[in-house]
Amino acid sequence: MAKPRRFFRPAWADVNLDALAFNARRLRARLPAATDLLFVVKANAYGHGLLEISRAARDRHLCDFLGVSSVEEGLAIRGEGVRLPTLILGSLYPFESFSAAMDAHLIPTIASLDAARTLKLLARRRRSRVECHLKLETGMNRIGVTLPTALAIARELRQDPFVRISGAYTQLSSAGSDRAYTRRQLQAFAQGSAALERALGHELLLHAANSEAALRHPESRLGMVRSGLALYGLLPGFRPVMSLRCRIVFLKIVAEGSSVSYGRTFTAKRRTVVATLPMGYGDGIPRALSNKGHVLIRGRRCPIIGQVAMDMAMIDATEAPGVQAGDEAVFLGGQGASRIAVSDWARLLGMSPYEIVCAIQARVPRLAA
Ligand SMILES: Cc1ncc(COP(=O)(O)O)c(C=O)c1O
Repeated sequence: MAKPRRFFRPAWADVNLDALAFNARRLRARLPAATDLLFVVKANAYGHGLLEISRAARDRHLCDFLGVSSVEEGLAIRGEGVRLPTLILGSLYPFESFSAAMDAHLIPTIASLDAARTLKLLARRRRSRVECHLKLETGMNRIGVTLPTALAIARELRQDPFVRISGAYTQLSSAGSDRAYTRRQLQAFAQGSAALERALGHELLLHAANSEAALRHPESRLGMVRSGLALYGLLPGFRPVMSLRCRIVFLKIVAEGSSVSYGRTFTAKRRTVVATLPMGYGDGIPRALSNKGHVLIRGRRCPIIGQVAMDMAMIDATEAPGVQAGDEAVFLGGQGASRIAVSDWARLLGMSPYEIVCAIQARVPRLAA
């Protein structure tokens, strides 16, 4: 267990590793025993802390693979001694980054014939063996190769002594919202991957499902499921892993008619107890919560008043009984019987849960326990 980071500003994110383990068990219970689980830890583990989450994934045996989006993220987890098989989900351009990926035993994604040829050349030059996964286009139209290109890549690499295509995958664009389109993508992937296996002459680890697909479309589970949202507890039935907490750093009473914060967007309609919190949009608290959102103090939902500033936010704490400087305030998570969920912000602000958690900045210490 890593030592908790030392910090002075009383603002932090609790990362609940028991909740994470619960979610992994829960998701696994829905999958066939032979289906592997890839844990998507890109974008600082969806804001939960790349290193904290990757270490937990290793120590608690939560998954079979990790998924990152760049060589940089892969190197960071290797630097922590995390050796789990790690797939780089993004396209690796410029292709020179294949060398760095090979050095760290990361599994690159091939999404073009040029990429395949470059990987072949680099591996031959280094005389080192490398495995890769091929990404097939089935309807997301982001990165991925069409079937004719996939077959050309198969011809290029079929006999190669250094490069082995060990897996193939695709990305579903609407697993949570469009059943018919998801089925069409899955059919295209089944046909494409079968043709690819025939062309290569060996079986591949096939994967298509993200969390929503794994839960809603049993036929998408295949050889592996790639999950983020469910494991971080951001789907119904799973336990939220991250909570965002701080302590009141300043408390004052303002008279009726006083305005609060930049631009004077809030004017007190009564004598108001104003609590100042040491977190703002520089930490990832959406500015759009100004005069809209709430925090929990002493178990009560207290409104955010005035503009959220870069490093601070002001709260009407009049209804929090006996409130004091130093009290805990919760932006996201539970306190007593009350809870504010990422989905509450998402609904209120028209945001996706992904962008809310990914926006929590690196300067917020992650306390994983
Ligand atoms: C390629 C890929 N697979 C899987 C996932 C995981 O998706 P989810 O968090 O919805 O489970 C992502 C997330 O963005 C992704 O980019």
